[in-house]
Amino acid sequence: MQYSRYCAACHGENGQTRGATFPDLTRTPFLYSQEGFDQVVLQGVRAERGMVSFAKVLTPADTRAVRAFIIARANELKKAGAGRRQRLQSAPRPDGVPLPDP
Ligand code: HEC
Repeated sequence: MQYSRYCAACHGENGQTRGATFPDLTRTPFLYSQEGFDQVVLQGVRAERGMVSFAKVLTPADTRAVRAFIIARANELKKAGAGRRQRLQSAPRPDGVPLPDP
């Protein structure tokens, strides 16, 4: 899977690694559209903040698969730990939209 090869080192196997610099990919608003996701992953709009473009190694078809993978993980986590997630999400977020199915 392209995700484990290119993304897991920083973002963790399930996309959940986060800290001062790594956002939790299962909760990022960038999952809501392929266009926005590709702006980060292919066009490198966050390059100066440590998230470089992967356009040299990933095609748009790859990033569609990667995004679907992260959405699937996010939905599994949501099912597995609805209570905990709700508590984590209790702060108002600009995106109350449920994650789409991959
Ligand atoms: C070298 C470490 C590294 C690798 C490898 C990496 N990322 Fe990132 N990524 C980051 C950092 C650091 C940020 C935070 C940038 C910022 O502060 O805006 C980030 C941010 C993101 C964001 C934006 C999330 C948000 O809410 O701001 C997305 C989406 C993302 N990465 C997807 C990916 C995908 C998909 C891959 C694999 C193709 C990947 N990243 C590989 C370090 C990495």
